[in-house]
Amino acid sequence: MTGERRSIYLTTPIYYVNDKPHIGHAYTSLAADVLARWHRMSGHDVHFLTGTDEHGQKVEKAAEARGMDPQLFTDTVSQSFRELAVRMNYSNDDFIRTSEERHKRACAALWQRLEANGEIYLGHYEGWYAVRDEAFYGPDEIMEKDGQKFAPTGAPVEWVREPSYFFRLSQWQEKLLAFYEANPDFIAPQTRRNEVMSFVKSGLTDLSISRTSFKWGVKVPGDEAHVMYVWLDALTNYITALGYPSETEALWRFWPADVHFVGKDILRFHAIYWPAFLMAAGLPTPRRVFAHGWWTNEGQKISKSLGNVIDPLALIDEFGLDPVRFFLLREVPFGQDGDFQRKALVGRLNGELADALGNLANRTLSLIQRNCEGTLPAPVAAPTEADTAFLTATGHADAAGSPAWLVEKVDALLNEQKFDAALTLIFTSIREANGYITREQPWALKKTDLARMRDVLRHLHDALRVFATVLRPFMPETMEKLLDQLAVPAGARDLAALTTPLPEGVALPPPSPLFQKIQDAAA
Ligand code: MSP
Repeated sequence: MTGERRSIYLTTPIYYVNDKPHIGHAYTSLAADVLARWHRMSGHDVHFLTGTDEHGQKVEKAAEARGMDPQLFTDTVSQSFRELAVRMNYSNDDFIRTSEERHKRACAALWQRLEANGEIYLGHYEGWYAVRDEAFYGPDEIMEKDGQKFAPTGAPVEWVREPSYFFRLSQWQEKLLAFYEANPDFIAPQTRRNEVMSFVKSGLTDLSISRTSFKWGVKVPGDEAHVMYVWLDALTNYITALGYPSETEALWRFWPADVHFVGKDILRFHAIYWPAFLMAAGLPTPRRVFAHGWWTNEGQKISKSLGNVIDPLALIDEFGLDPVRFFLLREVPFGQDGDFQRKALVGRLNGELADALGNLANRTLSLIQRNCEGTLPAPVAAPTEADTAFLTATGHADAAGSPAWLVEKVDALLNEQKFDAALTLIFTSIREANGYITREQPWALKKTDLARMRDVLRHLHDALRVFATVLRPFMPETMEKLLDQLAVPAGARDLAALTTPLPEGVALPPPSPLFQKIQDAAA
């Protein structure tokens, strides 16, 4: 939108294929999708990656438990993540699977580079390992309950003793701290940055990066008794997808990543190991890792054993896709934990989508349909004071209809991943527009001042076009429908097009409701 066209790379975590997709997976990818769509609409060159993390003990065990070959098992489960991406309407440019050949090549190349740089040595690992987290834990982190040992995350740990290659992570402590200092925006939100920095300050030990006690992984080049530690393998996906080890491929222009979206539970891997691996390999580091919070379900921790896992597909079936997309980013400040409450979803859908936005559109478009022969009134030559106040409040920079103010504010907020704040701002403007229509009463003007009625409806049409455009990344299908009803041509739906008013006389199709209210006894 502003400034020159940039290449922007956004990623989601790659999801473990040990289980079917749930709300947490849908949430991380949704945030990345909205930002990808926003940047595309701003005219940038965007690459958006998601995929599945298929190796490691956890997946191997899940396959075993079903009596399946791990490759066959991952083929099946990976497909359900692809389907989730389609059902959630994600606009990902690629879907990576770590069992693909391109990925094994990239992992081997990165390993060899680290080895050539003297960053890897062979030793023996002895310590605690949590398969559920695919993570090693120090003795001081372990808790004991009923004779069983647990990691701080609650995952059971087991004692592991085996030959292992190590990465010299301890050598990177000071360099990492200097890197965080020099790049204050690398870890967001700020509170998470402080946590990571104090963890690094407390001391880093060398990291075990290979395993010999199971087989399901990428083989270590030159020593096939070892498979790579699944996090080294998994993190590499972000560069595999850009063609690594070839740094001359066209896609390599997207590196370094602009934002790696992750949940708070996997921040350490992305904010400590990943930049250390990259620096050790002499590769550029990502610009930002954003860690979002976790959802609970009606006040309870979500867990399979409690049987309260939220299935995103069931939510879509019940409420429709776009209300779900909207709700997840509207309800909770991105970065904080949030509670999923059905009542809140129904409230937002009925109050904000159906009443505030849906009714505004329906009233305006029905009045144009009935009283302006279904064609768009002319742009307003001489706005009144009330019009100017309305245009300013709804984010227009000036009475000529340039929507710079709202668009620029939303842009700034989305560049900081403040999805909820952007939506709050847009819905404050929508409320202003509802105030304007109530005060101006175009339905009454029809009998007293036809010219004034046409001006009011034109202003409302202009405002609706801005709302539909800025909300497009959040609710793509429904906002396309609104833009159809507003008769905005397909080629004029990006941010830059907003500065060119639609000509007078454009024919508008008959409007139809955008959102269905939920009459909900359970709410
Ligand atoms: N495979 C690793 C990521 C490797 S990235 C190089 C992984 N996969 S995962 O499938 O377990 O988790 C994926 C994401 O889901 C994480 O970002 C995690 O934070 C998120 N969530 C899992 N449960 C969640 C909630 N209850 N709420 C919000 N997000 C949650 O970790």
